[in-house]
Amino acid sequence: MPPLLAISRCVCQAREFAELLPLARENGWDLAALMAETGCGAQCGLCRPYLRRMLDTGETVFHEILTEP
Ligand code: FES
Repeated sequence: MPPLLAISRCVCQAREFAELLPLARENGWDLAALMAETGCGAQCGLCRPYLRRMLDTGETVFHEILTEP
């Protein structure tokens, strides 16, 4: 059975994390640069902890609720 919870995108910008990760890697973006360049994480901000973890671990689909530290 697939996990019930799958968070895989910035809803505000309608961008998949799987699309953002290679962009960040290619351009050497940290979280601040990713936010400045794409707007992701810069609106409601709910995706920001996921973006942070994505940059840390390379994960692009999350099965738990993450909040800001
Ligand atoms: S979901 Fe990414 S800024 Fe709102």
